[in-house]
Amino acid sequence: MRTPIIGGNWKMHTRLEEAVQLAGEVRRLTEQVRDVETVLFPPFPFLTEVARKLAGSRVQLGAQHCHAQEKGAFTGAVSAGMLASVGCSHVLVGHSERRHVFGDDDTVVNAGLHAVMAAGMTPVFCIGETQSERRSGATSARISEQLTRGLLGVDGDQMSAMVLAYEPVWAIGTGDTATPGQAQDVHAFIREWLDHQYGESVANVVRIQYGGSVKADNVDALMGCRDIDGALVGGASLKPESFVRIVKFDS
Ligand code: PGA
Repeated sequence: MRTPIIGGNWKMHTRLEEAVQLAGEVRRLTEQVRDVETVLFPPFPFLTEVARKLAGSRVQLGAQHCHAQEKGAFTGAVSAGMLASVGCSHVLVGHSERRHVFGDDDTVVNAGLHAVMAAGMTPVFCIGETQSERRSGATSARISEQLTRGLLGVDGDQMSAMVLAYEPVWAIGTGDTATPGQAQDVHAFIREWLDHQYGESVANVVRIQYGGSVKADNVDALMGCRDIDGALVGGASLKPESFVRIVKFDS
């Protein structure tokens, strides 16, 4: 049985006061939730205050990115060890916006994954095809390429503990979500890939989130799909009611 995991990626939104308030509301409104893992991904400057707000609750803390090097002369960068030291348990790695806005390639993503694991945290490894890749029938090829390159040097135990997020680039922030059928097809493809590379016992335990315009009104159908084990939520995670409705999905 894979425990569902719902993430709220706040991206470059909120100010300190809003961030703390949002975290407090999510904490309060999910107090009774036992069977779903919830992780919030605030911007870097608010991690410490949000950690304080979440202390003693089941809601976990994540960061949106980290640099692969542990320390040194890397102005503006934040290391995995720093994130672990402020209470992060999860880090997004290879988010679509990192790849497409900041130009992080598969080598950078792979180094980031290893850095997060070395610091004892759980990577949420994001992959997904662009609109033109989907239109040209290259979705599977793109996904397997991202998996192959991104997971270089990752062993079975590490894989089992990792979270994957399938986020089609064309569905992120567009309101144009993948249909449950489209999402399930790719999730099943990813699980088959994992089975082939790591064996059935690993493939069966890896949780694969769907991300891309997940909202209160489409989460139930997505979570009803066999290979969808959670959601990575952007826009709808900025309002406590909509995010908590997603955490309390009904499938
Ligand atoms: P969205 O973002 O829900 O606003 O589409 C998802 C994500 O980027 O993780």
